[in-house]
Amino acid sequence: MRILFLDQSGKPGGAELCLMDIAKPYSDRSLIGLFADGSFKDLLQQNHLPVEVLTTQKIKVSKESNFSQGFKSLRQLLPLITKVIKRARKYDLIYANTQKALVVGSIASFFARRPLVYHLHDILSKEHFSQTNLRIAINLANRFASLVIANSQASQIAFIKAGGNPDIIEIVYNGFEPKLYQKSESDIKQLKQQLELEGKFVVGHFSRLAPWKGQHILIAALAQCPPDVTAILVGDALFGEQDYVKKLHQQVAELGLENRVKFLGFRSNIPQLMAACDLIAHTSTAPEPFGRVIVEAMLCRKPVVAAKAGGAMELVEHGMNGFLVTPGEPQELAQVITTCLQEPEITATMASNARNTASQRFDMTTINQQINLLLSEKVNI
Ligand code: UDP
Ligand code: GLC
Repeated sequence: MRILFLDQSGKPGGAELCLMDIAKPYSDRSLIGLFADGSFKDLLQQNHLPVEVLTTQKIKVSKESNFSQGFKSLRQLLPLITKVIKRARKYDLIYANTQKALVVGSIASFFARRPLVYHLHDILSKEHFSQTNLRIAINLANRFASLVIANSQASQIAFIKAGGNPDIIEIVYNGFEPKLYQKSESDIKQLKQQLELEGKFVVGHFSRLAPWKGQHILIAALAQCPPDVTAILVGDALFGEQDYVKKLHQQVAELGLENRVKFLGFRSNIPQLMAACDLIAHTSTAPEPFGRVIVEAMLCRKPVVAAKAGGAMELVEHGMNGFLVTPGEPQELAQVITTCLQEPEITATMASNARNTASQRFDMTTINQQINLLLSEKVNI
């Protein structure tokens, strides 16, 4: 099966990291077309995946745009669409990863007469999108997609609720390679030394810095925890959220937490950094569509506390393999952090359960087989 993958982003967010893993088995017959240049292209090349930056022109459409802005963006997209139609003729299938790729992929699939698969990584709700953008996504998916792959039940339910056709959507979770998340004690010790985290109880937060990812909730919680609790914030503002970054630094200063919060920026050694933590916190204030970091923490055998909404509720079973807390409630989070600090045996058992279930449920080989089957059966090529 020859696949033309399309992705809008120049930077590696969760949807892009997921796409990279899906594309690997098809690397000798496929192309990943990007709508922006940047570090995601470099990452794909490092992984020996064929990639082409199809445009370097900035596509001006935000998650909140209205109809006339949407129409203007469509005109802007014409050169890109023409290019994609040309490329698509050499492939059996167009695989659109997220919304902008869906727009371009839909039109290209019509003119190039190629089936379209749409990988939905978002909860299509008013909390995350404008009414216009929701309508565009749903109408295009219903009209052009042979198959929609939802990254969770939460994303599937929102798609159907917004008017999406229930007959074309299937849930496939993100896949992971469990062995990448096992680190030796000596590696962990060395990293803790380098980061000056020895002897501290370390809560890790791994996410791009964006208001709805809720790093401010963790900082507020930290102020209510015993003083030996420290936090590392791993991730950068990938999509221009500089004001939020400033606010986070201000919050840390106002609470006098400069010695207890470390901003580590974007890192590519996530398994090592997670291994150096005692607890991983996920604090999204809006429902998380899936939440790769939650599964990664489980695979690292680390206790995880997640905001109780969206996909996170499909990943964590409270009290069995992790903790769920009310989104946006620092006090509740602080209580869980303190429990983990005081009762390491209980949390270690949970983390062990988490590793076992996550290795089975999210095993990349199985997930990729599932996708291959869906593409072959539904798309019929
Ligand atoms: N990540 C990373 N480096 C960082 C911060 C995050 O590689 O500095 C990775 C993280 O390990 C995860 C992904 O980025 O695999 C984020 O995916 P997630 O589904 O958690 O959230 P998203 O940002 O896609 O909404
Ligand atoms: C998106 C979602 C995130 C999900 C990722 C991979 O970036 O925000 O929740 O884990 O896609 O499907």
